[in-house]
Amino acid sequence: MRIAVYPGSFDPLTLGHLDIILRGAKVFDKVIVAVLSNIQKNSLFTVEERLGMINKVLGKYDNIEVRSFEGLLVDFMEEAGAGIILKGLRAVSDFDYELQMAHINKELSKDVETVLMMTNPKYSYISSSNIKQIVHFNGDITNFVPEEILDEIYIKAERKRRK
Ligand code: PNS
Repeated sequence: MRIAVYPGSFDPLTLGHLDIILRGAKVFDKVIVAVLSNIQKNSLFTVEERLGMINKVLGKYDNIEVRSFEGLLVDFMEEAGAGIILKGLRAVSDFDYELQMAHINKELSKDVETVLMMTNPKYSYISSSNIKQIVHFNGDITNFVPEEILDEIYIKAERKRRK
């Protein structure tokens, strides 16, 4: 069975992420969305909230699983029995970082292959960090995130603004 891991922070999940996950689920037997739970100071959502939101969007797919991980990605992959790292490539600017990560992960585990999938051009400029910035200033993020999690993002941003 070809199991791919799609790792990331997903703070929050975007339509760009969703596009890669759904396309990946057609190419591989199973895709595990792996949410990095290493402590990050400026994250908007807790890991549990991120898992909940991703499950809300992807829970209906039989060959997509959502899990959190900490530590090294290659260690998580071994534990999950996965051999492929799936990543999205939005633009050339992503390439340097992804190339470096692919080489590092290969060095850490010879069994792991990184597969880069080109992001749909209509999502090529979307990132979790620009979504956080827009929502912080109460801008419209309707075209950037899955509909099912839109309200949760607005509510969280509103709470954070009041703090
Ligand atoms: O969505 P992001 O924040 O760009 O995702 C980055 C991620 C989670 C893919 C990357 O930070 C990662 O793999 N972290 C786990 C630690 C690790 O294995 N690093 C590689 C060796 S430096």
